Amino acid sequence: MKIATILGTRPEIIKMAPIIAEIDKRGIDQVVLHTGQHYDKEMSDNFFRDLEIPAPDYNIHVGSGSHARQTGLMMKGIEGILLDEKPDIVLVQGDTNAVLAGALVCAKLHIAVGHVEAGLRSFDTTMPEEINRRVADVCSTMYFIPTEESAINLLAEGLSRKNLFITGNTVVDACFRHLEIAKKRGFGEESLADLDIENMDNILTLTMHRAENVDVKERVVNIIDALKELNQMNIIFPIHPRTKNTLQNFGLFDELNDLEHVHIVKPIGYLDFLLLTSSSTLILTDSGGLQEEAITLDVPALTLRYNTERPETVAAGGNILVGSNKDAILENANRILTDSEFAEKMKNAENPYGDGKAAENTVDAIEKAFTEGMLNIAAPEDIMTSFERKMTQIDEDITVLEFEKRENALVNLVFNGEKMIFPRDELNLNGMMITYVLYT
Ligand code: UD1
Ligand code: UDP
Repeated sequence: MKIATILGTRPEIIKMAPIIAEIDKRGIDQVVLHTGQHYDKEMSDNFFRDLEIPAPDYNIHVGSGSHARQTGLMMKGIEGILLDEKPDIVLVQGDTNAVLAGALVCAKLHIAVGHVEAGLRSFDTTMPEEINRRVADVCSTMYFIPTEESAINLLAEGLSRKNLFITGNTVVDACFRHLEIAKKRGFGEESLADLDIENMDNILTLTMHRAENVDVKERVVNIIDALKELNQMNIIFPIHPRTKNTLQNFGLFDELNDLEHVHIVKPIGYLDFLLLTSSSTLILTDSGGLQEEAITLDVPALTLRYNTERPETVAAGGNILVGSNKDAILENANRILTDSEFAEKMKNAENPYGDGKAAENTVDAIEKAFTEGMLNIAAPEDIMTSFERKMTQIDEDITVLEFEKRENALVNLVFNGEKMIFPRDELNLNGMMITYVLYT
């Protein structure tokens, strides 16, 4: 079996690293394609170093540009490489342009796609990421899903539960493994060593790069106004290149950089960043990965967004959405600083993203699918005369698998009277309302 992985941005490298390492450990043939979307060493090479994975086998060097340009160049590059390499499955991760390009190319080449971190939905179609992840989920063969809630999103869109694998999120694998390494090593980045973070208290780690925030001056101004008033905190801001450009274009960079309690540094390596975030009192961010890492590291998070595709973090109590609203930022940040009961409750929020075995679970599922022939994509030869969608109330002890066998059906949605639950094979359906597809 040969597995190809497509990645291209900082979070994709971080979240695919545990899977790449697991594939390597099992001696499975693999090839890694870098799209070149992120190219500064602080946004790319340093992560291969910190996460101890080999340099990619290919780099398509698409660089920066409009969505259409980036996606088009990626598709062209990816197609050529896949035609040569002929992998059995291609893994894409998350919601960047690489996911869109990779999944589309593979679907047309009839190569199986495994979408890592599938099923997330913000329901905000103005976000490029929402489009990317939805399109990828239409084109995929196997779905590696961090939580049951995200799996239900996919069932609600009509996908077959047979292709859905709730694995946890590989960000937990990466966090657990590398925090230990980081602690042994200590801070490596000069810019951070100079700040003497070990002896700093009230640290607020800030990151923001989301287009809908940093490309809109009014939102940036509101956020900066809040930061000005948070002068009892030491704000460490590893700045994303996109954000540095827009702050400079808006003429706001120097104003922020001149504040004594704000320390803007270039993007930092993964080990340093884990040390920084795990020593923080508060994380203020619009990053997807950081919302997950915050709850994994037991650090309260305030998210600079009006919606999130990670609602589990909010439901668990570890994350609060504050948008770019100055008052909401200040009110919640001050409460975390002064109300220890409130802060403790946020810190103790249960991590919904698993126990650090997401990479193992993912590769287990791929190996099984390969053995069972599920990765061979071919036009069907079974004749399907009719296909009906049905709904019924179950009043007997019967598991999902037993029901499916008996009825020649596929269970889709299960409602337990209170909420949707994921139809695992062994779930007893007694007392549940279900929807299913009937094949005849
Ligand atoms: C991309 C992803 C976003 C992800 C983020 C992770 C898409 C649509 N967006 O956003 O989902 O959360 O990566 O960080 O795929 N730049 C550099 N050096 C680099 C890379 C970028 O200077 O190495 C600058 C360029 O000016 C570029 C801008 O940053 O135009 C934006 O980069 P781009 O990759 O287009 O989008 P991100 O904002 O990084
Ligand atoms: N990160 C890092 N150094 C930084 C900022 C972020 O290592 O200076 C890591 C962080 O730990 C997380 C990931 O980058 O795992 C998040 O990436 P980003 O915010 O760029 O993208 P998103 O997750 O929003 O797609």
